[in-house]
Amino acid sequence: MDIKNVCVIGAGAMGLGIAQLAATHGYTVNLVDITEEILEKAKASIDKNLDRFFVAKSKLSNEEAKNILNRIHLSTNRDEAIKDVQIVIEAVFEDMALKQDLLFDLDKKCKKNIILASNTSSLSITDMAKKATNQERIVGIHFFNPAPVMKLIELIKGKNTSDEILESSKKFALSLNKTVVTVNDSPGFITTRLIYVLCNEAINMKQEGIASTEDIDTAVKLAFNFPMGPLELSDLVGNDIYLHIGEYLTEKLGENYNPSPLLKKMVNDNLIGRKTKRGFYNY
Ligand SMILES: NC(=O)c1ccc[n+]([C@@H]2O[C@H](COP(=O)([O-])OP(=O)(O)OC[C@H]3O[C@@H](n4cnc5c(N)ncnc54)[C@H](O)[C@@H]3O)[C@@H](O)[C@H]2O)c1
Repeated sequence: MDIKNVCVIGAGAMGLGIAQLAATHGYTVNLVDITEEILEKAKASIDKNLDRFFVAKSKLSNEEAKNILNRIHLSTNRDEAIKDVQIVIEAVFEDMALKQDLLFDLDKKCKKNIILASNTSSLSITDMAKKATNQERIVGIHFFNPAPVMKLIELIKGKNTSDEILESSKKFALSLNKTVVTVNDSPGFITTRLIYVLCNEAINMKQEGIASTEDIDTAVKLAFNFPMGPLELSDLVGNDIYLHIGEYLTEKLGENYNPSPLLKKMVNDNLIGRKTKRGFYNY
């Protein structure tokens, strides 16, 4: 099946980026969220991002940016927005029950050959598909933030995802000019599991007092040629998000993934990072 029209559900940080990316590559996008206000804010962000990162850098003309924006249609009516699309990508909050219910509803309402994809960064695709009847069409398509810029897409094959759906999803991901890796469903996949371990261990080191925040970050950046240190990254993503991931990985994979006591304390003290302007650094 040829994909021409895409529905993205959730117009937060990821959803708006995915919508922009898909529209940039010629797809028509229906972008769905709960309120008009969230949607208008998302479209304004896309407009700004296109301008700042593409038009200002001469990667797109004004005309092209305008056409991309015009290919994105906003809707608070999910049932309308899924009509005539060939793929639905959900990017709602990282909550298993919410995603399960959403996929159950989409599976009921979308034609059988439509791909249902989740942008989850850690949750099991197999579990997420549990309530749906046609579990073979549910797949993980994990984009990275910001979606229009980051080069990787992690494709996740749930236990029941069909080879055909995986192949069509891969073709779609490649059409967005991304490099694609495929992972069998496993908590945190490749990327989230590894980055969590790195950040959590850096937080353990900080707790043990073996080096300062700045020195831990500088060591990782310069020794491994990473663009960012693990503590500044944890502040950027949100210490609450890493705690959540750590708890999930511990539940699914065992005690090796136990979140650092310092990470728990920081979240408890509302030292979330950039979001609260205080974390390992002050902002
Ligand atoms: N932020 C990241 O760096 C990142 C990277 C990769 C993957 N992810 C994953 O992407 C997903 C979204 O993350 P985010 O950071 O964009 O979250 P976010 O909080 O910025 O946005 C989520 C959006 O979903 C909307 N929403 C919630 N329930 C909805 C519903 N029933 N119908 C329509 N819209 C609904 C919310 O109103 C909100 O606008 C999560 O699963 C997350 O794990 C996030």
